[in-house]
Amino acid sequence: MSEQRLDEVYLTNELNTKFIGQNLLYFASVTSTNDIARQQALRKSPEGTAVFADRQTSGRGRLKREWVSPEGNIAVSVVLYPDRKYLHFLTMLAALAVQRSIEKTVGAQCQLKWPNDVLINGKKVCGILLESKATADSVEYAIIGIGINVNMQMADYPEIAAIATSLAAEMGREVSRRELLRNLFVEMEKLYLSLQAGESLLAEWRAQLVTIGKKVHVRSGDEVFDGFAEAVADDGSLLLRCADGKLLEFNAGDVTLK
Ligand code: BTN
Repeated sequence: MSEQRLDEVYLTNELNTKFIGQNLLYFASVTSTNDIARQQALRKSPEGTAVFADRQTSGRGRLKREWVSPEGNIAVSVVLYPDRKYLHFLTMLAALAVQRSIEKTVGAQCQLKWPNDVLINGKKVCGILLESKATADSVEYAIIGIGINVNMQMADYPEIAAIATSLAAEMGREVSRRELLRNLFVEMEKLYLSLQAGESLLAEWRAQLVTIGKKVHVRSGDEVFDGFAEAVADDGSLLLRCADGKLLEFNAGDVTLK
């Protein structure tokens, strides 16, 4: 069967999970899968509900950026109702799950870039957008939105080709989105269960970050800071040592290597 479009039946067949992706909503085209997932969360859809679209017309990235989301890629959002103490681990969970599932599906080695990019050979292959409704004590819902460039032809997107790649471009062949998505759901579930069992994802995530120990620029809002990416704190924020010796802490922003 051609994978040009994935339908619901084709996606859910033989899904080796207990809850992630078991309630799966498929769309040929949506504005953003995170929007539909939010509606599902507000209706208290089961934990692990996943919204998959072949194409997004208003896919969004972090910091209000556009996310290019043509057919052939993966755009998926997963609804969770985590304990408050796990909220800041969810982007780490997603990045590790993407990394593991790409390695399992195509055998390619990925690197992670703070705060939540997955790279292959230094270029971005996946972005993660966590959106949640939470107070200091509780979480009403959390949505993990994951965009993976799977079969995107980079020559069709010259505006991002210098910084982004796709699995097809790296492997020189078409890659099965179905297999990748199934592996992704399995890895997300494993990591979510291990979080709930009290394991921390911090050490594994921290060890994979290409950013740490390098001279970087950090863009935060309208400001750019130069320094040495010294470490990440226990909550995942980046610790930047500036030339004057000051240590700055960032919980959001963009990093470029100098
Ligand atoms: C980023 O790198 O800035 C994050 C990109 C996140 C893209 C995914 S695709 C599925 C979900 N729906 C969206 O509109 N965004 C996320």
